[in-house]
Amino acid sequence: MSSGSGDKPRRFTTRDLADRKPSGPKLVVVTAYDALFGRLVDEAGVDVVLVGDSLGNVVAGFDSTLQVTLDQMIYHATAVRRGVQRAMLVVDMPFLSYQVSVERALMNAGRIIQESCAQAVKLEGADSDVLLAVRAITKVGIPVMGHLGFTPQSVLAFGGHRVQGKSDAAANAILVGARALEEAGACAIVLELVPAGLAGDVTRSVSVPTIGIGAGPDCDGQVLVLPDLLGLNDKFHPKFLKQYASMADDVRAAVGRFGDDVRDGRYPDSEHSF
Ligand code: KIV
Repeated sequence: MSSGSGDKPRRFTTRDLADRKPSGPKLVVVTAYDALFGRLVDEAGVDVVLVGDSLGNVVAGFDSTLQVTLDQMIYHATAVRRGVQRAMLVVDMPFLSYQVSVERALMNAGRIIQESCAQAVKLEGADSDVLLAVRAITKVGIPVMGHLGFTPQSVLAFGGHRVQGKSDAAANAILVGARALEEAGACAIVLELVPAGLAGDVTRSVSVPTIGIGAGPDCDGQVLVLPDLLGLNDKFHPKFLKQYASMADDVRAAVGRFGDDVRDGRYPDSEHSF
């Protein structure tokens, strides 16, 4: 995608996001947490880079996303921003940054956009307080991505990582939530860990794109957490995950070879010395 002016690529926007719903191709979304991987995934041609609060798990080593703060999200988002030239940048609003009051939600969404130059924020859930926050944030012109199904900030309430929407009532709540998010102004909705049939029903019943993770093939796009996709996070093997590389093995092998070379005096040799 070119801007037509110089060689700076045109950025993927909310309009491109909306255009994909009727005509495809499917949206490709990955997470990133730093400038280096932000640049690499951008160069690989993804449409959207999500600075996910999954950084609590995959970067900080916590068991959940609940420990992640707004300042930490902004720190990582500003780093990713420096690497991403073309893809749309979306940043998760962390736990308690949007649930306490609409005013706080609005100020915190504004901070993310002003300090990281992201193009959208993502919020979890569709209860009445979240919907008020979505309405207020979109009203001032900040695009919002919703997130339904398994919403990681509610992991304690769910009692673990479980597929959501399995009963008729739970499935209906997700459908109703998706329609309410659309009505409140959300520009897209992530569907996490829901049965494929339900994700298809939600996708057909809203006019904004759905982006699935563990939600089957019928969503308008797919998202994966980058270290999972790359096989860097090799202790995590959920059913929905396809690993496209085995980078944990590569890291151990490369660092092991470096160690052997240093210990045996092969590195640095004359080629790598001044
Ligand atoms: O935090 C995150 O990475 C996410 C994705 C799993 C969608 O919300």
